[in-house]
Amino acid sequence: MAMKTSVTNINVLDIFQDKQLVKVCAPMVRYSKLQFRNLVKRYDCDLMFTPMILADSFCHSEKARQNEFTTNALDSPVIIQFAANTAHDFVGAAYLASPYCNGVDLNCGCPQSWAKEQELGCAMLKKPELIYDLVRQCRNRIPAPFSVSVKIRLLSDITETVEICRQLEKCHISFLNVHARTTNQLTGQIDKSGLKLIKDSCKIPLVANGGVTSLENCFELQDYTGCDGIMVANGILSNPTLFSGTCYTTKNCIQDWLNICYNSTLTMQSYQEELAKPKLTISEKPNNLTFQCFHHHLVFMLEKVLPKRQRHFFNSLKTFSSVLQFIEEYFGLKPMLFEPEMFVKTVSQNMDYTDRDFMYKELKPTEAEEQEYIGNSYNSDGQYFSSKISSEDCDLTEIFLENG
Ligand SMILES: Cc1cc2nc3c(=O)[nH]c(=O)nc-3n(C[C@H](O)[C@H](O)[C@H](O)COP(=O)(O)O)c2cc1C
Repeated sequence: MAMKTSVTNINVLDIFQDKQLVKVCAPMVRYSKLQFRNLVKRYDCDLMFTPMILADSFCHSEKARQNEFTTNALDSPVIIQFAANTAHDFVGAAYLASPYCNGVDLNCGCPQSWAKEQELGCAMLKKPELIYDLVRQCRNRIPAPFSVSVKIRLLSDITETVEICRQLEKCHISFLNVHARTTNQLTGQIDKSGLKLIKDSCKIPLVANGGVTSLENCFELQDYTGCDGIMVANGILSNPTLFSGTCYTTKNCIQDWLNICYNSTLTMQSYQEELAKPKLTISEKPNNLTFQCFHHHLVFMLEKVLPKRQRHFFNSLKTFSSVLQFIEEYFGLKPMLFEPEMFVKTVSQNMDYTDRDFMYKELKPTEAEEQEYIGNSYNSDGQYFSSKISSEDCDLTEIFLENG
């Protein structure tokens, strides 16, 4: 089996030991994908999360696995975030992915209505025993250094939140991610004192999240809360160089984005062919890259860089060639081929999941057991085994952006 040995050898807990402050790129549906993770890693990001992936789709469908998670030799340390509400989905998905990532995270914070209806995301906080069961089983079945973490939001009762965190610590999770807003509070000030209380009550590393837009903010939040890491979402979309201490997206960062995106569309063979070309460009239907991913990230990055009129024009562009032309005219930048040594590291890894679904099969209850569960477990109202919404059916992005 193809193994990313260098990746799987990394112990995420060592990063918390070694670094004064661990800088984390948040899970972001549609956005914290491979190319963006490669970009932020160049700018002092210590730990990267994938977008939330539905664990049951990951377990069931090879297509979902290929679409939802791609990786390469530069993509570490990386944590895959799953949405799940059964042990067989969570542990099954974690086991499938474990050779290709450094850990998994359970999403217990997503406030979107579809997720709540499916008893996923923040709905899990109403059934903490279920969360404990999932992470305990995952921890027991996949040995360290593979990391198992949880991302939560605050409950309106902070004592209850602290209790959940303490219990999670007892389940031996590796670290805890807390978005310091409640499930009903979608924007606005974060609860710093809530974070401090959690930090003072638990020994495991705490990654604090919410409202951070600069490196200075990171240090301020750490000073106040004593947290071990800071996770950033909106701030790092606007400025992927945030963790390196800059206020705005730099020109070098735009150049890096062009290079990463362009090189990620090439194969070993096409790389050789590109070497001979005088002008490099991205084809309109490239492999491994969507126009939306390429363009949206530039839209975010240039939000504070371009004047209003140019910004409106840039945001309305619809093709790779028009975006590349704009960037060349405005910034004098165009994509460049990586040196062979670097290119090899950017090639997407072939992932072989053959025979790794035995964990899922082993844990999945029989139909009779499911009926039993639905009646009895975790104060269930019987929703656990209803089919989940497929990722194609819902546009997660808009709501996250509104709520971010
Ligand atoms: C575009 C976008 C997508 C997001 N997707 C996810 C996700 O997949 N999983 C998750 O736990 N949180 C997700 N979030 C929430 C962020 O991880 C983070 O908790 C929230 O935005 C607060 O951090 P911020 O103030 O730094 O933006 C998303 C946020 C944004 C803006």
